[in-house]
Amino acid sequence: MKTILVTGGAGYIGSHVCVQLLEAGYSVVIADNLCNAQRDVVDRIARITGTQPVFYQTDLLDLDGLRAIFRAHAIDGVLHFAGLKAVGESTEQPLRYYSNNLTGTLHLLTAMQEAGCTTLVFSSSATVYGADNPVPFDERMPTSATNPYGYTKVVQERILTDIAAAQPDMSVLLLRYFNPVGAHPSGWIGEDPNGIPNNLMPYVAKVATGELPCINVFGNDYDTVDGTGVRDYIHVCDLARGHMLALEYAFGRTGTDIINLGTGRGSSVLELIYAFSKACGHPLPYVIAPRRPGDIASCWADTTKAKEVLGFTAQLTLADMCRDSWHFICRQRERE
Ligand code: NAD
Ligand code: UD1
Repeated sequence: MKTILVTGGAGYIGSHVCVQLLEAGYSVVIADNLCNAQRDVVDRIARITGTQPVFYQTDLLDLDGLRAIFRAHAIDGVLHFAGLKAVGESTEQPLRYYSNNLTGTLHLLTAMQEAGCTTLVFSSSATVYGADNPVPFDERMPTSATNPYGYTKVVQERILTDIAAAQPDMSVLLLRYFNPVGAHPSGWIGEDPNGIPNNLMPYVAKVATGELPCINVFGNDYDTVDGTGVRDYIHVCDLARGHMLALEYAFGRTGTDIINLGTGRGSSVLELIYAFSKACGHPLPYVIAPRRPGDIASCWADTTKAKEVLGFTAQLTLADMCRDSWHFICRQRERE
């Protein structure tokens, strides 16, 4: 049974991956400083799976803390989710973003190297395709960024590629996620950000509960099916399944590889609002607002490589994503 270190494992995507790792029989060690997660997520993972993961409240900026984890456990591979991810905040606090995301990754690589751990799967993002590539985005396209968060992903991809090139026994997989949404069907884990969400799905969910009055649709004059922005929304459970396949692939090889995880299908803002209103059972008020600076019209994945290399195809629909998000939000409100 392999032991996997999951950095950021108490977070939104990491927690769903921990569930699937435990269900598949892996031993799971989580390192998370809880800057964007709650401690009880770890217990919820245990409640879903019947197995308690090992948890360390450790900051990746604390190199000695990381070293201690590698001393305490024979870690076979690392899934690296820990990082700050809010685009707007990254523009206001670039030093914090570069420091957390880059130094955290450098510390992790240092601790891995010292411990002789050679397999790493990294959470990258479709944001690295920048604003100039045509859709669908494929892995060979040039990368760029429009904000500090995006640059941390571009630079982390570079760092990981260079280190794998210099260390021939290393296996690095860069997974570029498109738009992860949805929640575990149990309703125990999901995404419920504090305050006013930046991303569309959690914003729509808060309008559905009545916590926010109305959705602002950022632009209806894009060159898309209905003029609103088009994105490749992928259910977080499909995304987690992609990680299971990716991890086994990473264990069987060396070098760096890059794989998109998306559905290959785009949905517009209005399509998502409509799908969510069906899931929650009532219409959702929206107004057309100006375009959001930095947004692109369309973003969806070329999924050929994920299919060929991993045998991965997303299975869950936009309706499934909205249903599971809504179920999680309702359960969460009952628990509060
Ligand atoms: P999240 O914020 O829910 O999870 C990240 C976790 O990392 C949090 O639990 C946080 O407490 C932890 N963390 C942050 N900095 C840390 C540090 N220095 N030390 C230890 N723990 C730390 O975010 P998520 O949505 O689960 O995203 C996971 C990863 O996937 C991130 O790297 C993110 O950039 C990437 N990603 C996310 C999306 C998305 O839309 N959610 C899209 C593309 C890529
Ligand atoms: C955003 C980030 C991106 C990050 C991704 C996942 C920006 C510019 N981009 O991407 O770097 O990788 O989140 O975290 O922030 N929308 C509305 N109203 C809203 C919110 C969003 O109309 O209140 C629209 C947007 O204009 C877009 C779509 O909904 O067309 C999806 O937005 P969002 O969920 O923020 O994701 P991205 O824009 O893909």
